[in-house]
Amino acid sequence: MRKKIIAGNWKMNTTREQAEILSSEVVNMVADEVNSDALVVIAPPFVHLSLVGKHVLPHPNVYLGAQNCSEHERGAYTGDISVEILQSVGVEYIILGHSERREHAGESNELLAAKVDSVISGEITPIFCCGESLEIREAGTEIDFVSKQLTESLFHLSAEDIQKVVIAYEPIWAIGTGKTATSQQAQDMHAALRAHLASKYGQEIADEISILYGGSVKAANATELFGQPDVDGGLVGGASLKSREFVEIVKSMA
Ligand code: PGA
Repeated sequence: MRKKIIAGNWKMNTTREQAEILSSEVVNMVADEVNSDALVVIAPPFVHLSLVGKHVLPHPNVYLGAQNCSEHERGAYTGDISVEILQSVGVEYIILGHSERREHAGESNELLAAKVDSVISGEITPIFCCGESLEIREAGTEIDFVSKQLTESLFHLSAEDIQKVVIAYEPIWAIGTGKTATSQQAQDMHAALRAHLASKYGQEIADEISILYGGSVKAANATELFGQPDVDGGLVGGASLKSREFVEIVKSMA
């Protein structure tokens, strides 16, 4: 049975005080109100990881996530953060290849393949992001484009290691725009990606890999999106900054 996961990507938001309040509210509400087997991941900015970890780590179903990491193990990489450092503060999930990093930091499929390797060697779960631009969607080549992102960054992995990866499909045109993919568009892409995984690793392994949807997920559309057979949860940006809204999204994963 593949895992159901709701991950909150806080991006470059929250002061220390806001991070403290938001994380404690989310953890308390999840403890009081959620009794499904869905896993919750909270990915704050790096500097708040320890602080947020204080609230998150004691809860068995809530995990600490990071938004990025270096592909290097350690050393003279000023300003970078390694998997080992993240692991030492309790991080168990790392978001990789978010479209904002692909765009603003020039992260390529090749670089991401190296980051995936570092994260897996550190025994942390990568949340590998993929997704097409509006231009590609309008040209009708989105399945080929996103499949290629998987091929180039993940298909060097062994059958054992590919099962350690969580995939997040995030159409760029739906991120932070208020424009969500329809549940059918999400399902179609997720099914295509699962078929692509099956073509390389076989159906049984493809069926074990969680594929999350991201892009303007909110409480109002979560039930419908998560109701799709190949949608195994969500990667939530804006709505993860409001505790009540985020926990309602978690509750719709039940
Ligand atoms: P959004 O962001 O929910 O604000 O659209 C999702 C993401 O970028 O992970």
